Amino acid sequence: MAIPDFDLVFFGGSGDLAMRKLLPAMFARDVAGDLPASARIICVGRDDATQEEFLHMVETNSKPHIKEAPSGANWDKFIGRITYVALNATDASTFGDLVAALRADESLTRVYYLATPPQIFAKICDNLAATGLATPNSRVVLEKPLGRDLASAKQINLDVGKVFAESQIYRIDHYLGKETVQNLLALRFGNILFEPLWRREWISDVQITIAEKIGVGNRMGYYDNSGALRDMLQNHLLQLLCIVAMEPPASIAPDAVRDAKLQVLRSLKRFTPTTLTHNIVRGQYRSGYIDGQPVPGYRDEPDAPKSSRTETFVAMKAEIDTWRWAGVPFYLRTGKRMSDRLAEIVVRFKPIPHSIFNQPTSSFQPNSLVIRLQPDEGLSMNLMAKTPGDSMRLKQAELELDFREQFTSPRMEAYERLLLDVLRGQLTLFMRGDELEAAWEWVEPILEHWEQDDSSPAPYTSGTWGPAAASALIGRDGLQWREESLPED
Ligand code: BG6
Repeated sequence: MAIPDFDLVFFGGSGDLAMRKLLPAMFARDVAGDLPASARIICVGRDDATQEEFLHMVETNSKPHIKEAPSGANWDKFIGRITYVALNATDASTFGDLVAALRADESLTRVYYLATPPQIFAKICDNLAATGLATPNSRVVLEKPLGRDLASAKQINLDVGKVFAESQIYRIDHYLGKETVQNLLALRFGNILFEPLWRREWISDVQITIAEKIGVGNRMGYYDNSGALRDMLQNHLLQLLCIVAMEPPASIAPDAVRDAKLQVLRSLKRFTPTTLTHNIVRGQYRSGYIDGQPVPGYRDEPDAPKSSRTETFVAMKAEIDTWRWAGVPFYLRTGKRMSDRLAEIVVRFKPIPHSIFNQPTSSFQPNSLVIRLQPDEGLSMNLMAKTPGDSMRLKQAELELDFREQFTSPRMEAYERLLLDVLRGQLTLFMRGDELEAAWEWVEPILEHWEQDDSSPAPYTSGTWGPAAASALIGRDGLQWREESLPED
């Protein structure tokens, strides 16, 4: 679907996200020919920079994040779309230049992208309303963090909802923009094979891992008040869990998908005092080596509080109380400074009931489906196959689907896809307000428990797979994390 003409306003337009992700994403779509000739990008920031100074900033801070070196003509065309407006987002009396910069034509799509701290979402929305900019054809995009607990998330929903209708609000979770997340929908609902097996009778457990090699870097101010549970689990991991576990929606219409995801979030088994202690592990990285290079521990990172108890790793066993999933553990795990960068979902099927071969059933690896989101997008299905030769010996073999090999068409970064969806008015890949609240409601008891508990997160060495307690968590159920079960190279 062609993108209609638009004015796209980035609040936080000189910030890190705009420079690293949003402007490069818009540039890529411009080069791909997706943007109408007269479409414009208005970057709003506090700095009193001139247009020239701002474009210089884009040249130095944003251009290096563009994957393929931009040609002169493409770049000139792109920066020709950008206008910089300096204002104080919390003071409506400074909005004059923004009003002047926007085109008055009511038929144009107008998008306000709030890449700012959430504490000022309400004020910005009020100011847009007060200056007549919150028109019925406008949309607002909310960047994470969308609150730090249930109360603050509710407040954001309430405040933004006073100015914009739910159908105008786009809550971003960039994991939903990743190619393989959508491929998961294709896999589940574009094939007849999996859905009949996608239930407790056939699936023994599911693992979802997002592991990063990077540390906290220069984001300590934000991260130390957040931690892995808020930063990754409440949003990205739970969204992946929803797509894996949801009932088949009737269509990919926004509310069909969002209703199905909401149902999953509302069916997550609540933690009890016992499961809060036994089914959740938090960790914090210590110094170690990443790719052979020494890296400091979390508490030695610049600006880190020396006795910080913020978790950089979390692993947990979650359960979904529905007929489809009762009794199937979902192991969720995420951490920084881990051994590898990977995001994957592993669906393990039940073992065969009986061996007809001269091998005990215990020597049969259960089938598993591995859905890799990154670094290389792909799917692999592990099956048992006969080894070549005279004897009837079975061994695990892999059916591999590498998306890059299979489909050569150019790929899109998550932000490219999500920005295009906002501009098209396509809400399916964005969280609805009630989903956001349901996710916070489920993690809230964990936050409260940690607040009251004065123990510290378990230390783990950078460059490993997290604290030993995470292996013990899954080990208690007689299982292993996938990398622990792989044969040594
Ligand atoms: C962000 C988190 O939402 O996701 C970061 O705030 C994290 O801490 C990032 O590094 C990971 O995203 P990706 O796409 O690189 O896996």
